[in-house]
Amino acid sequence: MQIDIDFGKSHVFVFGGTSGINYGIAEAFAQRCAYVSVASRKRENVDAAVTTLAGHRAQVRGMCADVRDFDAVGAAFEDAVSQFGPIDVLISGAAGNFLCEASSMSANGFRAVVDIDLIGSFNVMRQAYPHLRKPGASIVNISAPQATVPMRYQAHAAAAKAGIDQLTRVLALEWGADGIRVNAISPGPIDGTEGFRKLIARSELASAEAAVPLRRFGSTDDIANLALFLASPYASYVSGAVIPCDGGGAIDSVKPALERAGALMTSGT
Ligand code: NAP
Ligand code: COA
Repeated sequence: MQIDIDFGKSHVFVFGGTSGINYGIAEAFAQRCAYVSVASRKRENVDAAVTTLAGHRAQVRGMCADVRDFDAVGAAFEDAVSQFGPIDVLISGAAGNFLCEASSMSANGFRAVVDIDLIGSFNVMRQAYPHLRKPGASIVNISAPQATVPMRYQAHAAAAKAGIDQLTRVLALEWGADGIRVNAISPGPIDGTEGFRKLIARSELASAEAAVPLRRFGSTDDIANLALFLASPYASYVSGAVIPCDGGGAIDSVKPALERAGALMTSGT
């Protein structure tokens, strides 16, 4: 079943949109005739994403920028807007993560994740602001369950994602008068993605999946469908919301698998 919303000629910018969940979101908009811009750090990822997205006969533009570099983020928006005009939909989903106990995490390791996830999200939204369609733009940040559920080995990502949730709510307040909606999606475990591979112990997969209330891991389409809804007129009165898309509290099931992966890593096995 497809969600039939036509995003024809809308400009959709996906920061961190060259792989995984965010790429899935970019693809969903490309399939619905949007003009799609994607940006991330690595040229090879940007080029590959542009090539495959263009296969949907969408107009696509790709830019290299690290979300930690405020000026580079601004330049990426200038470039995209010069091509496709004001931004109707902004997805901010760049993130980095690794499993490590706080007691052995370096200050730079903590900073790297907070810089990418939280400060990067600020940089993306702040630099996009002058280019957002007013009224009408919709921003969707990508959060994570660690924002509200404490998890061992995730001090950096948990702190950063909690910050993203609150940034989402504050900017929804401040930018509502411009007619800009700001929301976030908190994905559960999404099969086949880098975050899933990095964070969940192989040995625990079957029990983790069985413990998801809906009895399956998520797909990138599950997240893209929610992003389509949030970007659409059907969500025109939804702002400041952080919406889980996780099979029904799936984090309770994944927490042991994630913590087992962290324990294995810490013990060097
Ligand atoms: P992913 O495939 O590693 O995607 C991360 C994307 O961000 C890539 O396009 C990457 O491309 C880009 N990126 C990374 N660091 C960047 C930086 N400093 N500046 C600009 N771009 C950067 O990860 P994923 O697992 O799909 O996760 C996507 C989002 O969903 C993240 O926000 C993650 O926290 C969230 N999430 C994932 C899961 C899950 O199960 N996978 C669950 C909950 C939440 P480059 O390497 O080219 O920069
Ligand atoms: N355990 C402990 N510390 C780690 C680590 C790990 N597995 N991986 C990185 N670090 C530390 C490094 O040692 C470094 O600290 P130091 O200078 O004190 O030694 C710090 O983190 C930064 O590492 P670096 O490799 O220089 O950072 P980077 O900016 O190149 O990469 C990461 C950022 C570490 C988040 C990297 O994992 C990344 O780019 N991830 C993107 C993809 C991703 O994680 N996707 C999943 C999203 S949920």
